[in-house]
Amino acid sequence: MRNSSEKVIVVKDLSVKFGDVEVLKDVSFEIPKGSFTGIIGPNGAGKSTLLKAILGFIDYEGMIVLNGTVGYVPQLSSFNREFPMNVYDFVRLPIRKEKNWKEKVDELLKEVGLERFGQKLVGTLSGGEFQRASLARALISKPDILILDEPEAGIDEMGKAKFYELLSKLKEEDHITILMVSHDIGLIFEKCDNVMCLNKAIHCHRPTEAMKIEDLKRTFGEFDIWIRSDDHYEVEHEKYEHSRHPEATNDRKKRDENGYNK
Ligand SMILES: Nc1ncnc2c1ncn2[C@@H]1O[C@H](COP(=O)(O)OP(=O)(O)OP(=O)(O)O)[C@@H](O)[C@H]1O
Ligand SMILES: [Mg+2]
Repeated sequence: MRNSSEKVIVVKDLSVKFGDVEVLKDVSFEIPKGSFTGIIGPNGAGKSTLLKAILGFIDYEGMIVLNGTVGYVPQLSSFNREFPMNVYDFVRLPIRKEKNWKEKVDELLKEVGLERFGQKLVGTLSGGEFQRASLARALISKPDILILDEPEAGIDEMGKAKFYELLSKLKEEDHITILMVSHDIGLIFEKCDNVMCLNKAIHCHRPTEAMKIEDLKRTFGEFDIWIRSDDHYEVEHEKYEHSRHPEATNDRKKRDENGYNK
């Protein structure tokens, strides 16, 4: 039986330096099995660095424990797509020695909406198509943990919805643990069980419903954050309404009566 309290990633006092510059400082968290965690934070906050440390690609101080196999979808710009390789070969790389690879690759290409793209050169794919091919490649060896770095970048709105649907399905049906960096804060709040705010030494990690606007402000500074997710949008909305209309209330029902939602 699946033990939901099992931790598949444990990070303790993680610090990463590039030369003299400390990019991450004393970051600690645990990721429960089967959870979907979204990581948010501004550019340069150390999000990709955190993922690379977890994957063992860079040196770090502290402790990282991984319990399971990992599939990784890197940030788009970090790939050299100029190599002459078609989608079939790109996706089957992790299982290239298996005999029945074609069946598996075809099945996955269908799942990510690229069923007729097998023979196409990777370098000729659009940004969104390439991201989907990357997801197929990350999934081909049936990992326990899926780590994604801005996977939806370049995917159009319809494609994005499908992409997130697929991630939700992987979580619900295949019980894959997902750790995903994204700048789409609204979608993170909608789809993830846990949210991690990261900005170098600033770090908080909570169940999505416990995340506070103050956590976001600390992470992003004093920028205005526009969040699509209903509850969190309301927090910002309230503040705005309060500044304009001191009689505005936090009570949604009363606010309807006062006509603030019109
Ligand atoms: N290999 C490296 N050598 C030196 N500095 C690096 C290296 N990799 C990243 N950095 C620096 O570390 C900081 C964090 O980078 P990182 O790529 O982790 O940010 P990020 O949060 O993923 O940002 P983005 O949202 O733009 O992807 C940045 O200031 C970046 O310039
Ligand atoms: Mg990044």
